Formats: sequence, C-alpha cells, structure tokens
Amino acid sequence: MQGRYLGCALALAVAVLPARAVEGDAEAAKGKISMCIGCHGIDGYRTSFPEVYPVPKLGGQYPEYIIAALQAYKAGERSHPTMQGVAGGLSEQDMADLAAYYSAAR
Ligand code: HEC
Repeated sequence: MQGRYLGCALALAVAVLPARAVEGDAEAAKGKISMCIGCHGIDGYRTSFPEVYPVPKLGGQYPEYIIAALQAYKAGERSHPTMQGVAGGLSEQDMADLAAYYSAAR
C-alpha cells in the first residue's frame, strides 16, 4: 500500500517535471552528435556547409532550453523544416543526452 502511494507520487513528480524525466548522458551523446555537427559545428560553434546561413550556437546553452527547443520542433510548435526533421527522429533520451553534451561544450 505504501509502495503504491510512493509510485503515484513519483509518477506525478515526473509528469510535472518533463525536462527532468530523463537523465541526460553526455557520453552517450557522442554517438548521436554526428547528425548535428554538420550544421551546428564541432563543439557547438556556428557553421554550415555548403551554404552559409546562421545556425544557433548550442554549446553552453542550458540543457532545459535545448530540450525545450527540440521538443517544440518535434511537436511542430517551432517551424524549421530541417530541425523538425532532425528532432522528429529523436527520443526523449536522445534529447536529454544531446542537451547534456551541448550544455557542457563551451
Ligand atoms: C541541416 C542543418 C541542421 C542539422 C543537421 C541540425 N540542426 Fe539544429 N538548427 C539548424 C538551424 C538552421 C536552426 C535554427 C532554426 C530556427 O531558426 O528555428 C537550428 C536550431 C536548433 C536548436 C534551437 C537553438 C536555439 O538557440 O533556439 C537546437 C536546440 C538544435 N538546433 C539542436 C540540434 C541537434 C541536437 C541536432 C542533431 C540531433 C541538430 N540541431 C541538427 C540546423 C540544423
């Protein structure tokens, strides 16, 4: 009975804090950033090839901000064709890992 109550409390806590639901792992992100560095650059710097257009710097941004942005692209709340395509293929774990990696890259 007590265990069930605790389970409910935990489920509630997770539901109210979506950004904290999944723990990000910067090490795990190293196998995933290959799909981002072409545009966001190594270590999060601004770059793009073959066309040069402004791409936001990700390095050093708050993980909550990165996750929120990726979720907004995935949900279609933020529109940008390529980022929607990229974010659409990411799981919550992927987003958390990438956010942990980029927030630590300065
Ligand atoms: C084809 C190029 C391209 C690729 C690949 C790409 N991005 Fe982006 N990304 C962009 C551009 C351009 C923007 C700015 C879009 C806008 O104006 O909304 C952006 C925006 C973002 C933002 C919002 C930043 C901000 O300051 O608002 C995040 C977070 C992000 N990208 C993360 C990623 C991650 C993580 C990956 C890899 C899984 C990735 N992107 C792959 C081009 C790319």
